[in-house]
Amino acid sequence: MGQSKGESPIYLDPNQPVDRRVEDLLGRMTLEEKIGQMCQYSGFSERFESLVREGRVGSFLNAIGAENTNKVQRIALEHSRLGIPLIFGLDVIHGFSTVFPIPLGIASSWDPNLARKAASIAAAEAASEGIHWTFAPMADIARDPRWGRIAEGTGEDPHLGSAMASAMVEGFQGDDLADPDTIVACPKHYVAYGGAEGGRDYNTVDVSERVLRETYLPPFKVAVDAGAGTVMSAFNDLNGVPASANRYTLTDILRGEWGFEGFVVSDWNSVGELVVHGIAGTPAEAAKEAVTAGVDMDMISNVYQASLAQLVKDGDLPEEAVDEAVKRILRIKFLLGLFERPYVDLERAGKVIQSRENIEAALGIARRSIVLLKNEGNLLPLKKNAGPIAVIGPLADDRVAPLGPWSCRGNPEDVVTVLEGLKNRASLQTKVLYAKGCEIEGTSTEGFKEAIGKVRESDVAILVVGESREMSGEAACRAFLNLPGVQEELVKAICETGVPVVQVLMNGRPLSISWSAEHVPAILEAWFPGIQGGNAFADVIFGDYNPGSKLPATFPRTVGQVPIHYNHKSTGRPATSGRWGSKYLDVPSTPLFPFGHGLSFTEFEYSNLQISPERTGLGGTVGISLDVKNVGDVKGDEVVQLYLRDVVASVTRPVKELKGFNRITLEPGEMKTVKFKVTPEKLSFLNRDMKRIVEPGIFSVMVGKSSEDIQLTGSFEVTGTR
Ligand code: NOJ
Repeated sequence: MGQSKGESPIYLDPNQPVDRRVEDLLGRMTLEEKIGQMCQYSGFSERFESLVREGRVGSFLNAIGAENTNKVQRIALEHSRLGIPLIFGLDVIHGFSTVFPIPLGIASSWDPNLARKAASIAAAEAASEGIHWTFAPMADIARDPRWGRIAEGTGEDPHLGSAMASAMVEGFQGDDLADPDTIVACPKHYVAYGGAEGGRDYNTVDVSERVLRETYLPPFKVAVDAGAGTVMSAFNDLNGVPASANRYTLTDILRGEWGFEGFVVSDWNSVGELVVHGIAGTPAEAAKEAVTAGVDMDMISNVYQASLAQLVKDGDLPEEAVDEAVKRILRIKFLLGLFERPYVDLERAGKVIQSRENIEAALGIARRSIVLLKNEGNLLPLKKNAGPIAVIGPLADDRVAPLGPWSCRGNPEDVVTVLEGLKNRASLQTKVLYAKGCEIEGTSTEGFKEAIGKVRESDVAILVVGESREMSGEAACRAFLNLPGVQEELVKAICETGVPVVQVLMNGRPLSISWSAEHVPAILEAWFPGIQGGNAFADVIFGDYNPGSKLPATFPRTVGQVPIHYNHKSTGRPATSGRWGSKYLDVPSTPLFPFGHGLSFTEFEYSNLQISPERTGLGGTVGISLDVKNVGDVKGDEVVQLYLRDVVASVTRPVKELKGFNRITLEPGEMKTVKFKVTPEKLSFLNRDMKRIVEPGIFSVMVGKSSEDIQLTGSFEVTGTR
């Protein structure tokens, strides 16, 4: 053991290299203690105390509060034989106490720095309450808005999703996991969980190797490259082998190809559920499948605790497999500094949680997440000293929904509603009237009369409609994508008054709001905007903040169009090819609002596309630049988007793929040159032999304001032989 009597053991010596400390500690552990490190339970209660004392728990999730976690940690440290600290995990998804917009909202900013900032604030707040580990970011690509968990991710595009996922990992983890303000990240749900058939949560996923590697894996790869310390294995069946038993994805790809050195935790009971999937006959078989695949820690199913020791004793599972898992877990515990700093300072939370800077950040991030979908006749912004404003709708004064799903310690009391935000920001002379109109769900139209009356007394109606927070997130899928309940009828009734209407949407997924898109002059999308959402909306509505965000996921016209995404293939008969084209008889094949769409109170002019060189070899990099000018009267943000198409290739390629974006701010009259670098990696794809290569040929360049609103086009050629 490398220690003589009386000396402190190597594993307790912070000056020793981590690997040495891990080996030393492992060498002292019994099989039961090793297995204990691989077990995670939810919420500390008395019944776990003896397990902790016996060194048979590695982690708790959902046990929070500085005092509480310190108390439990003390049992592990002072009463278990080796004093191995516990790691406390929690779903810190979009804020801890200071709740930010949901991840889909943050993704609308197209600003990875913002995602990084939100994650780092969330990390510091969570850490101050004893949390070491978050189950985030959700790096699942989602092309189907029926799937409730689209709210928790960053939308449909692998390039945008990758930029956001790596920024969030950096935000949570900072430069040093041992820093008291950082927590370890856990990209989830590995992998292809978002591809659930029918958009139904937990459902089967059957995707080709190409789609897996080109669409679903990239955000995980960059999250691992950014240093993510853990990864969560998903619930879903993946091409016949459930993700939590999938050695190909968990070991061959994650560790073999990408060099991941952290540990894998299963999703909640997903090891136990291998029996229900029907690939294990008993919980013991499930445990063996999962460990062999590369799942190091069992989240709550208790299957590892119950069966691993026997499996090892019977020779059915090599002890080395257990050792490997334990080493990975211990390594992260050492890197977090848990052996040196197992307890959290009780004073810390008071200084960190909801500090003034954090609340300001929540406002800034919410503003930068709001998307202006439509603004006919420049109805927005409104004048602050205008006549009466009617604020209508079931979400106008709702203080729960803005928190969104997975709102951690978010408190409805801290929420500024849209009604409150408008009252805060309107001039004192402006009358702000309010009527709910109807509930989010349900059939009663009783409240319409009052709402219509208030609107008739007003110069403008702000109509806040959408979903409840329970309608998105886990196990919250919808077969319809319209406004729930009688809300669409309310929208129609309000529009019939002839008073101009601004529709404000709060929801966790793209909605099919075709009627509104056609008839309502101004529409804002803010997703679930967090605690400062009401103020952020008011800033946008009154023009104190000019919205510059863009949709990270396509809005379909109707649910019948889904899955729908901009980076689809051409087919042999594109929709434009007439009677026999790939389209529907009853609805256009185009989206209601395309990926990347979002307006501003100003106008931007694109010019001077430069592509250099216009011919390059297979390993060459191409520079693309263009000028963007603010030709309106107010300062504004534009997200400049670069799309490429490989025109002819040995396998069919998408009609366009996002390969670069840049959110810039321009004063009126100001012009900026935006530059992109197209590296060979961005031109590469998987050929028929599943090798990643660049093929010679022409690449179309499309630069624009959205995936549909392309402003400049050009091309370059890659030369060479295949
Ligand atoms: C199940 C969810 O799928 C996952 O996202 C979450 O992290 C765990 N439960 C823990 O709460």
